[in-house]
Amino acid sequence: MSTCTSLRSLLNSTTLPQNEAKILLAYILEKYYQLPRSALLSRDEMTLSTPAFDEWQDLETRRCSGEPIAYLVGKRGFHNIELYVAPGVLIPRPETEILVEIALREIIKSSGEVKVLDLGTGSGAIALALAHSSQNALLTATDQSLEALEIAKRNAQELGLADRVQFLQGNWFAALNRSEAKNQFDLILSNPPYIAAGDRHLTEGDLRFEPSSALTDGANGLSCLENIISQADFYLKPDGLIALEHGFDQATAVMILMKMAQFQDIQVHQDLAGHPRATSGRKPRPE
Ligand SMILES: C[S@@+](CC[C@H](N)C(=O)[O-])C[C@H]1O[C@@H](n2cnc3c(N)ncnc32)[C@H](O)[C@@H]1O
Repeated sequence: MSTCTSLRSLLNSTTLPQNEAKILLAYILEKYYQLPRSALLSRDEMTLSTPAFDEWQDLETRRCSGEPIAYLVGKRGFHNIELYVAPGVLIPRPETEILVEIALREIIKSSGEVKVLDLGTGSGAIALALAHSSQNALLTATDQSLEALEIAKRNAQELGLADRVQFLQGNWFAALNRSEAKNQFDLILSNPPYIAAGDRHLTEGDLRFEPSSALTDGANGLSCLENIISQADFYLKPDGLIALEHGFDQATAVMILMKMAQFQDIQVHQDLAGHPRATSGRKPRPE
C-alpha cells in the first residue's frame, strides 16, 4: 500500500525548515528504497509506502518537538568520518574538529608512532577521526559512560578501525593503569563537560536531549578541565602536548590552569567564527 502524497507535496506542506525536512526525507528514501538524496529532486512525484509515510510523520513530529536531527537519523558527520549517534552520547560538534587538526599537525611532525589519549571519547569522534586520518596515530580512548563506550566501539567496528583504538572505562585518568601509563602519551586531547550548572543553554535546543553528564560538570564549568590539566603532566612524555576544548569565555581560565601546571608554549585556538574554543600547552623537556 502507498499514500498518494508525493515527495514534492510533503516538502511543500511541512512546517519544518526545508533543509531539515530534506534530511529526514533523504533518510526515509535511503532506509525504505535504498535511494540517494538526489531522488528528492529526480523522483519528486514518488509516493511513500504506508510504513515509510508513517515514519516520516513520526520523525516530522519529533523534530517539531525539538529532538535533534542527528538522533532522529542516527548519524552525524565529523571531520572526515560519519558516526553513529544515539541519545547516550553527545552529538559531535564542528568546533571539536579543532582538536583533531591540532593533533594532526603534531602527528605529521613525527616520523614514527604517536600515542594519543582521548579522554571522554563519547561517540569516539576525536579518536576515530585521528585513526582514520593517520596511520601513525595509536589511540587510547576513555569514557566514564559505558553507554558511550558501546557506541564508540560500534563506530570503531563500522569504520574498520577497531584494532587501532583501545577503549577503557573510568573517571578521566583512572581508566588507565597508572604505572604503565606514566610518561606514555605524546598527545592528550579532551572535550570534557564544561558548561556550568544552571547555564540556560542546558535548557535550549539539542542540549535538552543530550546526556547532561556529557555537557556539564555540575559545578562552575571548569572542574573537569582543572582535573585533567592537573594530572596530565604525569601521563605525557616530555615535550608532549595537551589540547582541550572549552567554552568561548574560558580560555583565560584554562591558560592560567595550564601555567599553574607548568605547561609551556600555551596557545589558544579559535573556531571558524573567531571564538577561542581550545587551548594547548606543552610539557617541558627535562633541563
Ligand atoms: C562533551 S562530551 C565529548 C564527547 C566527544 N569527545 C566529542 O567531542 O564529541 C564529554 C564526554 O566526557 C565523558 N565524561 C564526563 N565525565 C567524565 C569523567 N569523570 N571521566 C571520563 N569521562 C567523562 C562524558 O560521558 C562524555 O562522553
